[in-house]
Order: sequence, then C-alpha cells, then structure tokens
Amino acid sequence: MTDSKRLRSAQWFGQRDLAGFIHRASIHAEGISRAALDGRPVVGICNSWSELVNCNLHFRGLAESVKRGVLLAGGLPLEFPTISLGENLMKPSAMLFRNLMAMDVEECIRGYPIDAVVLLGGCDKTVPAQLMGAASANVPAIMVTGGPAQPAVFRGRELGGGTDLWHYVDELRAGRMTDAEFDELEAAATPSYGHCNEMGTASTMTSLVEALGMCLPGTATIPAVDAARHRAAEATGARAVALAREELRPAEILTAPAFDNAITLLMALGGGTNAVVHLLALAGRVGVPLTLDRFDELSRRTPLLANVRPSGEHLFERLHHAGGIPAVLRELGALVDGNAGTVTGRVLGEEIAGAEVLDRAVIAACATPLAAEGGIAVLRGTLAPDGALLKRSAASPSLFRHRGTAVVFEDVYDVQARIDDPGLDVTPQSVLVLRNSGPKGGPGMPEWGQIPIPAKLLRQGITDIVRVSDARMSGTAFGTVVLHVAPESAAGGPLAVVRNGDPIVLDVEARRLDLDLPASEIGRRLDEVEPKEPSYRRGYGALYLDHVLQANEGCDFDFLRARPGEPAESEPLGLLHGWVGGW
Ligand code: FES
Repeated sequence: MTDSKRLRSAQWFGQRDLAGFIHRASIHAEGISRAALDGRPVVGICNSWSELVNCNLHFRGLAESVKRGVLLAGGLPLEFPTISLGENLMKPSAMLFRNLMAMDVEECIRGYPIDAVVLLGGCDKTVPAQLMGAASANVPAIMVTGGPAQPAVFRGRELGGGTDLWHYVDELRAGRMTDAEFDELEAAATPSYGHCNEMGTASTMTSLVEALGMCLPGTATIPAVDAARHRAAEATGARAVALAREELRPAEILTAPAFDNAITLLMALGGGTNAVVHLLALAGRVGVPLTLDRFDELSRRTPLLANVRPSGEHLFERLHHAGGIPAVLRELGALVDGNAGTVTGRVLGEEIAGAEVLDRAVIAACATPLAAEGGIAVLRGTLAPDGALLKRSAASPSLFRHRGTAVVFEDVYDVQARIDDPGLDVTPQSVLVLRNSGPKGGPGMPEWGQIPIPAKLLRQGITDIVRVSDARMSGTAFGTVVLHVAPESAAGGPLAVVRNGDPIVLDVEARRLDLDLPASEIGRRLDEVEPKEPSYRRGYGALYLDHVLQANEGCDFDFLRARPGEPAESEPLGLLHGWVGGW
C-alpha cells in the first residue's frame, strides 16, 4: 500500500484496525477486491442523472465512459448520485434548490473516501451546484458536461430549445399560429437528451467551466449525442486519476484570474444573465472577492464575438464546429489571462495556443466584432441601489434610453390574470414592472423576468417593451428586460413601492435605472411597506428564506460562503477515531 498511503482514501482503507476492516469489507460487498483498492486513487463520479431531468438523461452512459478512463489510468471509479435539478419540471424553481444540491455534493465528496471527483452536470442549475459543492469540499475535481441537445426542425426551420419557443408563443397569442400548429411544434421541439442548445444558461455555464479551467479544453461544446462526448468523458476519468495523485485542488484553479477569464468569455459569448449569479456564488465559496462592478468593467472592454442565439443566429453546436471555446478564448487575445491554472496541470494559455477559428460566421474576429461591448450591462439607480442586469446583446438598442410610466404587477399570478386583458392601460412606451419574484419573494428567483408583451401590443406589431423585475430570465430569452433588481421587493427594495403611472428612466449607456421621484417620496413609501407572510415556515424552504443572499451576492446561503482566513475543510471530522457504527 505504498502509493495508497499518500491518498485521502487511505485514511479509510489503509488502516490495519477495525475501522479499516469495516471500510474495506464494505467495498468487498460490492464485489471489489482488495487488489482493486491497493494503491489506486478512488475517483468518485458525482452523477446528476435523473429521469426527472431530461437534459441529463444520458449520464448513466457517460458515467460508464468516465469509469473506463479511470480504470485505464489505474484508478478505482465509484459512482454516486445526488439530487438533480430539472429546469422545466422542478417547481417552484430549480434555483430554489441550487444551494441544496451544492450542499449534497459538498458533503458527499467530503464524507466519502474519494481522492478526486468527476462532476457530471448539464441542466442549468446542476453545473453551478456541483462546482459550488466541489469548491467548498476542495477535493481534486474535474467536470464533464452533458453537451447540447440535437437541434429540432419545425417546418424546415432549425429550432433552439427556448429562444424559438418564446417567439412561437407570441405568434400563438397574437393569433398568427393555430393550436394544431402549436401541437406540431411541441412534438418536434425536443428530439434528444442534452441541455438547451442556444446560449442559454446551460450552454453559458458549461462554456464558463472551460474558462474557469475546471474541465478538459474543448469539451463543453461537443453535442450530447456525439461519440466524441464519450471519448471526452473517458479522458476526463483518466485525468481525474492524475489529479488525485497530484492533489491539484479547486482552490488552486478557481482564482481571481480564472473568474476574470470566465466573465470575459461570458461577455464575448453573449451568455445568459444567470451566469452572473452563479459566478458570484462560486467566487464566494473560494473567497475570491467579486462584485457586479467587475462584470461591468469586463463587459465594457470585451467585444461580443459569438453569433449564437439569442444574441445571434446559430445554435451552440455550430460553435463547436467553429473551433469551440478554445477558439473564442484565443481570439480574445490579451483580454484572457493565459497564466490561470487548469485541471490539466497546464495554464490556460498553453491549452488554447493551438486553437483556431474555423468559421467566421459563428465566431467573429476581435477586430470586427458583432458588438463592441459585451453582452451584459450592470445598472444602478434609485430603483436598483444594489444593482440590476440587462442582457444588452439580446435587447433593442432603440430602448436603451427610455422614459416610460410603470404598469405594475404584484406577482406572476397577477401577470397571468391581466397581461392579455384588452383593458390593460399599456402603451409601447410603458415600463412593465413585476415584483415579489426575487430570491425570497419568488421564492427562488424564478425565471419570470421576461414578462410577456401584452396581447394588445402584439397585435399592433410591437415586439419589445421595457420590463423590470427582481426575477431572473431564461438565458434563451430576449428583449429589453431588466432583471435581478437588488435589493428585491420582498427584502425592502424600492421595487416594492412603484405605483402605476410612476415615471421610470432606463439609460443603458449611463448604466442607470431610476424611479424618477423625489428621494423623500420613495423613502416615505418604503416606511409604509408591510412585510409579507413567509412562503415557508418549516423545512428546507424556511432554511432558504432565513439564509439566502440577494442576487448581487449570488443567492448563496450566508453560512456557505468561505470565511476569510479559514481554510476549506476537506476532511470529515472524527475520521481517524476508529469506531464506525452499524457493525
Ligand atoms: Fe435543462 Fe434547459 S431545461 S438545460
């Protein structure tokens, strides 16, 4: 057991005592011999497979490929499940449970005899949850993502999973599409497993995993159904064995330059706004100081390069064939810090040195970008003292300077009840305001921010209108939609006191969002706000309401962030104290 004595798992399996006996016997019960344990790193495969998460449905097969890689490299693979978060089926919002999954992942990694872990994530929240958990556990970790789903084809047009749906929903509501045609669309919409295939949250987050250095380069964009994804999984498993031996931990990779690289890529891709929340939360786990201001600074200097929906024309798969994330990062040149470390043991600059842009229709040159500035603007003002976001690459430039009067909706049910009311007092100049949709108010900050355009405006041919909320929106959505207003209305933010007819001013260039009323009037109204009944009084929901942070801090739980000066606790307490129960 010479090699195994250096391994974390040797604390379980390498001892000649009763505890070691029981630990080894438990593995023997799985048909695994002592020879398979001796000296071999144990690689945990953290699998978010679930039949409730269609995007991750292929992960059992992918795990087998990871196992092959682990075995080929001389490790012992042990797969384990955690909760999984399906964006579409889980209510009230998968985001409500991101932190729960992160805790599950963290404690499974910490509590079990794992020398390195391969994270299998894909659907929106599964990727950040796994990264957050692995970062806190700080055991060597590497991710392989699920890849984008096959494109759907509807009446000769290639469809994305979300962007096109929003378009056709509006067509249906405007009476330009029949129910039968909509049924036909439903049957065609999801032809395979894999995550949403535009630059939605999932494609954005899986891409950022590459920029963060937490997966093998070039793997994020491989289509879900492509055999290359299995070869990537095999290579990931093999690399995990080396990571265990090298003890290269997430804290050494998730550094400030890595976060800058991820934010730069986010802007160049026109990635989803949800990534801002997830990166803030992940940075909090490893003690990297990160604020919304850094996103705006990097957005202003980063050109938009990826011509992918909803900011552009193509699906995520085309980005793969155009050279993938390495090609985008290389195109960004000096805007990317090539000295940031990666799970390969080499720095990012070395990994992308040979990358090439193969299709300029998909990845623009820095000299001739799709837009001079990145995709996301951070706004502040009297309506959002702690910040708000606008995905400018998917918004209408004609609305970037806009003054309009508020049409207020108390919550999403109010939207449902009144948005298509012919009597709704709304014009193309109005600003739709939705509150009680933030981290506490939603609860779980659901993706309700893309308030539908009122049917009476759709019928006039209006395709965009300014919308403001404390909600999030799907990364596949588009429009002049101001999101993540902080503090949210349920936490005492000024959004709570906006009234119908109040003037709201949006100025994207100046990065301002203002309720254009005297400060004394806003203050007076805030003093009169009555606190709302909590959505939960027990269980995880109550824990969530007590501890969730606001959007500008990543919506993590306050007690899960790294404490300054304290190292991560990668070892379980009491491991070496001999007796284990259950004998
Ligand atoms: Fe799973 Fe979009 S619903 S990635």
